[in-house]
Amino acid sequence: MKTIFRLATLGLVSALAACGSDAAPGPTEQIIVREPGETPAVTLTKAPENISLAAAGEAAFAVCSACHSVEKGAPAGPGPNLHGVVGRAAGAAEGFAYSEALKTSGISWSEAELDAYLANPVAKVPGTTMVAGALEDAEQRKAVIAYLKDASSS
Ligand code: HEC
Repeated sequence: MKTIFRLATLGLVSALAACGSDAAPGPTEQIIVREPGETPAVTLTKAPENISLAAAGEAAFAVCSACHSVEKGAPAGPGPNLHGVVGRAAGAAEGFAYSEALKTSGISWSEAELDAYLANPVAKVPGTTMVAGALEDAEQRKAVIAYLKDASSS
């Protein structure tokens, strides 16, 4: 008897289409067929939905990368380097000239705080100098936050 594993598929295509990126990956589906007792053909170290979400977030991050780097130690652009930002205090990337508003906001970047800031930075932190890059689409915000976490883990 054969065992069939169906892995994945997250319908983020519509969210990505809204982003207008050519690099947007379509939904992925992998079907693995194996005989009992065989070694699995693929070893997953992360849940499939997390892989898809971070990949979608990487595509959506194209909007942010005009101003932000995320690789460890990469120089800041008009915006601060975002490596390790999830879980960190706001305004804490070394050497970046943050606004007083963000520095004194008292925010610690939980996923919920990031979500609110990315939805509307100026409403969340009046006086912030991040005046572009808001993401209206909640799915895109979720994906970008997953990507920020993922990109910070290496
Ligand atoms: C036009 C440039 C620009 C774009 C585009 C932009 N940002 Fe920013 N971002 C900034 C600036 C400038 C700051 C610093 C704000 C301040 O000091 O008030 C900032 C701050 C941030 C912070 C807080 C960082 C910290 O260390 O506290 C996060 C998180 C962030 N941006 C995420 C994003 C994401 C995610 C996107 C894309 C969806 C994005 N930004 C798009 C310019 C930009």
